[in-house]
Amino acid sequence: MTTERQSEIPFYSPQGNEEALFEHAYGNQLPVLLKGPTGSGKTRFIAHMAAQLNVPLYTVSCHDDLTASDLVGRYLIGDGQTIWNDGPLTRAVREGGICYLDEVVEARKDTTVVIHPLTDNRRILPIDRTGETLHAPDNFMLVVSYNPGYQSMMKGLKPSTRQRFISMSFNYLKPAQEQEVVEQETGIDAPMAKKLVPKHINFDRLTFHMPDSTYFGHHPH
Ligand SMILES: Nc1ncnc2c1ncn2[C@@H]1O[C@H](COP(=O)(O)OP(=O)(O)OP(=O)(O)O)[C@@H](O)[C@H]1O
Ligand SMILES: [Mg+2]
Repeated sequence: MTTERQSEIPFYSPQGNEEALFEHAYGNQLPVLLKGPTGSGKTRFIAHMAAQLNVPLYTVSCHDDLTASDLVGRYLIGDGQTIWNDGPLTRAVREGGICYLDEVVEARKDTTVVIHPLTDNRRILPIDRTGETLHAPDNFMLVVSYNPGYQSMMKGLKPSTRQRFISMSFNYLKPAQEQEVVEQETGIDAPMAKKLVPKHINFDRLTFHMPDSTYFGHHPH
């Protein structure tokens, strides 16, 4: 897990109105789902938004061994006693901030049990092991990401989970905008950046069927 509190706001070139939409979701205590192919700017966007909203960002890269205890916490033995250790989700709920679960569909199924009560109007995190029930403060936000191209048919996001989130779709930038990003990120000049950015994008490869989402940027149709 990584925790960040950035003094500088990471550069992000918007695809559409995603910043305003995200701020609206944050202000209304709504969880957000970021969808989009690899390299479409999801991680950069969340880093940018956390810095802009001035809240800590707790990032968890999900993998197929990641359990609910990895998110919530566990008792650890040390110095002859057992001490409770908060996981990243619990810390974000206790202290406020954005908890970003990257590639959430990869995680074990038991993680949905802790995610669900945080994503409806209860906004609670029951911690069975300690007997506590935490109420999320207004500045707690759960954000998950999902790469529709990645996972197998078996690993889609369950509708009962997906419908809890405001869904935001990311796509690759148009060549002219991508060129600006390359200039910003590398400091190279415009003619050199132009050479690096492909002029033609194969939209067939990039198109996903996402009927329930807000589409940003370059719509292939
Ligand atoms: N809109 C953007 N504004 C600024 N930089 C961008 C933008 N989109 C992409 N980038 C650049 O592309 C890099 C890759 O983007 P990022 O890591 O955010 O993608 P991702 O959607 O999180 O991919 P993955 O699914 O593999 O995690 C960033 O580090 C940044 O340099
Ligand atoms: Mg990412």
